[in-house]
Parts: sequence; C-alpha cells; structure tokens
Amino acid sequence: MSKVLYIKASPRIGRSHSLAVAEAFLASYLEAHPGEEIITLDLFTAPLPPFDGLTVNAKYNIMHGRPHSPEEAAAWRVVEEFIAQFKSADKYVLATPMWNFSIPYRLKQYLDIIVQPTYTFAYTPEAGYQGLVTGKPIFIVSARGGQYPPGSPGEAFDLQKKYLELILGFMGFTDIRWGIVEPTLEGGPEVAQAKRQAAIIQARELAKVF
Ligand SMILES: Cc1cc2nc3c(=O)[nH]c(=O)nc-3n(C[C@H](O)[C@H](O)[C@H](O)COP(=O)(O)O)c2cc1C
Repeated sequence: MSKVLYIKASPRIGRSHSLAVAEAFLASYLEAHPGEEIITLDLFTAPLPPFDGLTVNAKYNIMHGRPHSPEEAAAWRVVEEFIAQFKSADKYVLATPMWNFSIPYRLKQYLDIIVQPTYTFAYTPEAGYQGLVTGKPIFIVSARGGQYPPGSPGEAFDLQKKYLELILGFMGFTDIRWGIVEPTLEGGPEVAQAKRQAAIIQARELAKVF
C-alpha cells in the first residue's frame, strides 16, 4: 500500500483553484487505488519551525561535523520530524499558487526545513551532489492569476516551475508531473472556472496512472 503526502500551499480554503484540482486528483486516485493512505500537510496551519539562528547553526554543525548544543539538538529534532514525514511518503501531491512569480513563503520555509545534507541530499567531493529522495513521483498543481505558457513572452516570469523542478531534482526527484490552472484572474471569473474545470478533467485522468 502506498502512502501519498498531500502538501497544501494555498491558504484559500474553499476558494483555491490549486486545492480544488489537487483534491479532484486525489479523489480519482483513491477510486483507482482504493485503501491507499493520504497524509495531508497544510503548510499554512502546520507548526513549521522558524529557520532561525539555532536551526541554521544545527545545519552547519552537520555540514562541518560538529556536535549540537542541547538547544540546537532540540531545534533540529523538530526539523528531523518534518523530514521523516516527508521521506516516509511513496508519492507526493503539491498544490501551490504562484506568488510573485514563484512559490508562497510557507512552501519556501518548508523546503528550507526539509532540504538538508545527509537527509534529502548528499555531497562528497568525489561524487558531488546526490539527491536521496529517489524513485517517487510528484504531481504539482499550480494556479496562477496570469498565464505563462511555454514559448510565450510570459514564460521568462515563471520562476516557480523552474525553481520547483530544480529543488525537487536536487533532492532526487525525476518524475515531476504538472497540472497548471491559468489564468485565474487575468481573464475574469468565467475563464477561471473553465480553466479550473479543464485542469480537473486532466488531473482525474493523470491520477489513474499515478
Ligand atoms: C501574494 C500574492 C502574489 C501573487 N503573485 C502572482 C504572480 O506573481 N503571478 C500571477 O500570475 N498571479 C499571482 N497571484 C495570483 C494567484 O496566483 C492566483 O490568485 C491563484 O489562483 C492563487 O492560487 P489558489 O487559487 O490556489 O489560491 C498572486 C496572489 C497573491 C495572494
């Protein structure tokens, strides 16, 4: 039985386009894979620790082979819990808005917590950087107020897709699947609803083979 980690990065409960498409994907996924486990992580309500002095020191202690102080060890235990939850999944679904051409700050905070040497990536002078989260697919739904299709002038502004592919690839992901809902603002509410509906239909199909 597979475990799916559903990461919610929109705070717009009940209104969010990315959450609506991700939830349609998960409903279809469960129809096709009955009994599988979905763990939900809402990044706007989860107690994400601040990535502050203690936590940063603990990260550098690991990189430099130094022991933690008791305070650093305590801060690091919280980081380890989020990493353990992340790594325990077999598959991932991420629902995220585009914010300022990239990702919401809570998603960046989460990535700062889980992207850690020796846990989700490794480095040796001989082999360089190696991702440690391998062989697991992720389906990302991204909702955008504007539109940034490949080949358009807007594409250069889409730092979200570039960044997520880069950072997930850094952790070892090679199977990254996308559902894009755009534009959710630029064309007015009717266009947004039509785009959401089209993305839901596509997501329901993708879920059957996820
Ligand atoms: C803080 C903030 C920044 C935003 N920045 C962008 C942006 O850079 N480009 C864009 O196309 N839309 C932007 N939007 C609009 C959202 O991407 C759009 O409303 C999207 O549907 C939100 O996703 P959701 O419906 O899943 O919450 C922004 C919205 C907010 C609240």
